[in-house]
Amino acid sequence: MPPQALRRPLKGMRRGVRPFLALALVGFCAGCRNSHSALDPAGREARELASLFWVLGAAGAVIWALILSLLLYVLFFKPRIHSERTASLFVWIGGIAIPATGIVALVIYTLPMMPSLRAQAGEPTIEVVGELYWWRVRYRLADGRVVETANELHLPVGQRTDLALTSPDVIHSLWIPALAGKMDMIPGRTNRIAVEPERTGRFGGICAELCGESHAFMRFEAVVQPPDELARWLGAQAADAVAPVTLEEKRGAELFHDTGCGACHTIRGTPANGQLGPDLTHVGSRARLAAGLLPNNQGTMAGWIAASQNLKPGNKMPSFAVLPGDDLRALAAYLTALK
Ligand code: CUA
Repeated sequence: MPPQALRRPLKGMRRGVRPFLALALVGFCAGCRNSHSALDPAGREARELASLFWVLGAAGAVIWALILSLLLYVLFFKPRIHSERTASLFVWIGGIAIPATGIVALVIYTLPMMPSLRAQAGEPTIEVVGELYWWRVRYRLADGRVVETANELHLPVGQRTDLALTSPDVIHSLWIPALAGKMDMIPGRTNRIAVEPERTGRFGGICAELCGESHAFMRFEAVVQPPDELARWLGAQAADAVAPVTLEEKRGAELFHDTGCGACHTIRGTPANGQLGPDLTHVGSRARLAAGLLPNNQGTMAGWIAASQNLKPGNKMPSFAVLPGDDLRALAAYLTALK
């Protein structure tokens, strides 16, 4: 198509409007393809939800176009109805039969998608707990061991995994748009959701229920891996923490225990066995810090320890701004080395 022909439909449009239209289109299209998009599905549930969106959207558009054209027809052509029989035919066919068929067809299409109608995958092997404001993730290994991590949910590709969801205090909602729908995490009960990822990759997850002042900072990543890679990762996560190597790391380890960090955090293989905060045994292996808020490196780790309340107001870790810069850097060096 020559460029001239491409420009023709836009010809009548005022020049000032075009950039806004282009921007809106770019925004719309970009929104459909990213790791947080429900319209770029990477799992069975999300794929079904995306087709539900498109089918119901298309059905809505067809119904809207039909009604609009009938309305325009009546307005412009003013048809006359000559008999009672024609009038009641209009009501029965147009007003009852067609809408009822449409609704029944859509119900038949959508009903089998309800998760409660599907068989569960089995006993949940992963437990996710919504905390203020982060995600506690527990894996039950085949040999009976339990591995606890935070803010990363590792899943096997091509397999259905059942997640058990709970919360100790307030209601959260776990949502990985590219993999499945939302499911609430409610104190005092265990909800279940099944996910079946269909391709590998890292997919964004968020909390979809207003849970407090830092609700917007409660993110995580679902890491979808081939089963053998996942098994290797789980094996590494089940191991105790590595010992500090450099002088700075050793000083950081001492500070960690002297400052009392172990009252809230566990580092397996050391005396630190607190349960309130995230397990830090392999914190250095995680891609991000503070439930998706920061990239994970020595600088951000030191900043997080010093200013956690400024970065994520209302979380349960106090800011340790009283610590001198050298101590913060040493602590961060020790923690980021815990791969
Ligand atoms: Cu947790 Cu919103």
